[in-house]
Amino acid sequence: MDQYKKPVLTDPIERVAPYDSFALDVLAGLSEPHKSIPSQYLYDDIGSRLFVEITRLPEYYLTACERDVLAANAPCIGSYVANAPFNLVEFGPGDGHKTSLLIDHFRARRFDFCYVPIDISPSAIATLCPTLRRDFPGLEITPLVSEYFTGIRSLSRRSRRRNLVLFLGSNIGNFSPDQARRFLRNLWLSLNHGDILLIGFDLMKDIDVLRRAYNDDQGVTAAFNLNLLKRITRELDGNFALSRFRHFGTYNPASGAMESYLVSLTHQHVHVGAIRRTFPFRAWESIHTEHSRKYLESDIAALASDTAFVVCEHLYDSKRWFVDSVWEVQKTDRKSVV
Ligand code: TRP
Repeated sequence: MDQYKKPVLTDPIERVAPYDSFALDVLAGLSEPHKSIPSQYLYDDIGSRLFVEITRLPEYYLTACERDVLAANAPCIGSYVANAPFNLVEFGPGDGHKTSLLIDHFRARRFDFCYVPIDISPSAIATLCPTLRRDFPGLEITPLVSEYFTGIRSLSRRSRRRNLVLFLGSNIGNFSPDQARRFLRNLWLSLNHGDILLIGFDLMKDIDVLRRAYNDDQGVTAAFNLNLLKRITRELDGNFALSRFRHFGTYNPASGAMESYLVSLTHQHVHVGAIRRTFPFRAWESIHTEHSRKYLESDIAALASDTAFVVCEHLYDSKRWFVDSVWEVQKTDRKSVV
């Protein structure tokens, strides 16, 4: 396993890239007529900690619902992989709370598996692994600090075990429809015949419930979103005055998504030293920071068929607010295995 772990961890290009691309993406995003910054930059160490706090808020139902799904369906999920050794691969594991439910069940049944969390953030991996090692002594873990596809491709090439890939939390909803299709198509190409994907989707529901989930009473979501401006100030020598911006989360019926913005409360100029630019803001002008798509079952079916996955079943929570969908990779036509 060390064979492929080392190149990923020590590759200098991978380590330099996050800082450079942050500056370039801020430059590009704040220069657009409709300002935006890619949501991946919300997740520095402080942002990742705030996001864990969001997942524990009463308004942010997504995490509790998905925990319900996994707790009630661990035996069912296990039945897809029980017959042979496998890799339990997770994209962006977060604090590992939800996955622990599956790991717990798999260990009780004495399944032969290796847990492979994949995350671009070294600190996310560094926090997660000791916790899991403490909670599950003897658990085989091969963490990968890398991009999802770099990780999964090297894994598929070097290990002939079946992969059960977890892509939870409705993270797929943060992509645009086109990006989501590309992501899943790329994933299908990176996986082997017989591999299983467990993918979370937040379902469309009452708009007030959605709005509360992205505008909590304690202001944790606001702090999480505003932290992006703090991060620019700290890492890119910016001079954002946080009191002159507010968080705003709203449902967009045209895109079927909750959208998050940082709204400028006044006419102002903000300087970002690292890229030597000053950006003007009109009063009430916004920076778009996140898109969280909400799905109908028919949207999920279309996404799977567009990207060649076979839908095995939908696993719901008791309120039917969230679904973890079980998809299988079938590559019977050898020519398509590129
Ligand atoms: N990806 C999560 C989601 O779409 C993250 C998130 C929750 C988020 N609340 C937010 C991102 C507010 C930006 C702003 O649900």
